[in-house]
Amino acid sequence: MDQMSQTAKVILDGNTYELPIVIGTEGEKGIDISTLRSISNYVTFDHGFGNTSNCESAITYLDGEAGILRYRGYPIEQLGESSSFVETSYLLIHGELPTPAQLGDFSDLLGEHSMLHEDMKNLFNGFPSSAHPMAILASMVCSLSAYYPGIDMLNPVKEDFDRIVAMLISKVRTISAFAYKKSIGEPFVYPRQDLEYIPNFLNMMFSSPTRSYKIYDEVVQALKVLLILHADHEQNCSTSSVRLVGSSWANLYASITAGICALWGPLHGGANEAVIEMLEMIHKDGGDVDKHISLAKDKSNRVRLMGFGHRVYKSYDPRAKIIKASAHDLLNKLGINDPLLEIAVKMEEKVLNDPYFIERNLYPNVDFYSGIIYKAIGIPMRMFTVMFAIGRLPGWIAHWKEMMESPSARIGRPRQIYTGSRKRDYVPIIRR
Ligand code: ACO
Repeated sequence: MDQMSQTAKVILDGNTYELPIVIGTEGEKGIDISTLRSISNYVTFDHGFGNTSNCESAITYLDGEAGILRYRGYPIEQLGESSSFVETSYLLIHGELPTPAQLGDFSDLLGEHSMLHEDMKNLFNGFPSSAHPMAILASMVCSLSAYYPGIDMLNPVKEDFDRIVAMLISKVRTISAFAYKKSIGEPFVYPRQDLEYIPNFLNMMFSSPTRSYKIYDEVVQALKVLLILHADHEQNCSTSSVRLVGSSWANLYASITAGICALWGPLHGGANEAVIEMLEMIHKDGGDVDKHISLAKDKSNRVRLMGFGHRVYKSYDPRAKIIKASAHDLLNKLGINDPLLEIAVKMEEKVLNDPYFIERNLYPNVDFYSGIIYKAIGIPMRMFTVMFAIGRLPGWIAHWKEMMESPSARIGRPRQIYTGSRKRDYVPIIRR
């Protein structure tokens, strides 16, 4: 971050205040208002932090107008095409691509830490089979802090941090697959040291003591692209939650759990599940896309077109572009003809030509086509947001680490504009 000599002038009650301007490496400019209250008694007001930067970050660059997304400077298109999920995770967390030796060490750590403490299986048994896998994931990740105690927050040792990062990335995959097995009443399939990250997950999900699962390269490739595209997205709702919880020096597991919970909502990561629900509903209703679009435009209800719109993208989400192509490609390769994909394509076409959506810059987002790929792979709908969480985990960890290492990080504590009652005196209820 550069400090420009130029300042912003704010005139309040006839007084002029000069505030510094900060500028990022891609030219993004911000007014530093951190002293505003102490010099003027004013705070700033911004619903949903729509125009507020809470930190400086060197992890992900996003230009919502131009549709650009880069991790540590590398375009996501290049990473999706040529990197692996494990390598991209390393890049996000450590800031640079690993050397072959570093990648080997990281992969070894992931293999070493893939098992869950046997006692944790009892926790799975405590959940009803109807439990949503996101509820299980959040509870289990928080429980990891009890089974695998964390880092000394004030004095983290690099080896401890590397071990805990590997533990989280590896065990979250195992927990997710176990949560699925629990939901269908099948025995858990343990992780295997001989399989790479994604095949290992697919094997834990879909093989059983009586059934072996054939791992297709096309499926691994499609899943890899999805995980990489979900791996980080700067200060979104879940990542901001991780930062906010972590800012109190809560441990990494607790902070990540907050991210999982925030991701669950249908306005955020839960949208991938909601998109398929919406497309299925339209399909059952005879495929009338116009009817649903009209409902979403009608302000007298809370219906929204799930998978459309984004706080920062005011053009086509670059991730959605890649995922749409990948969905077509995978379905072709697997010989699947999914009517939901047809409905989705039809809906997109109509939306992109509809003045309501054009005026508001609403385009398909990352969640619009991802569910079609998960569905083709055989991943059930209730696991979609869990898949998102597996993908987003390295980003959450990278942000937690960046915040903990930043000398300027402070506990997250927004201000408010109070609009409640003014002072009034308490009158006790007369008791008989
Ligand atoms: N369908 C219909 N109208 C929409 C949609 C939508 N999907 N999204 C936004 N709008 C409308 C709003 O009603 C509002 O209209 P108005 O100006 O007439 O009041 C206008 O567009 C601006 O919308 P906001 O709510 O201000 O946008 P915001 O940035 O707060 O919300 C969000 C972004 C939550 C993603 C929103 O677009 C949405 O709800 N989309 C559907 C859910 C979804 O797909 N979420 C996943 C996002 S990607 C991710 O988190 C991984």
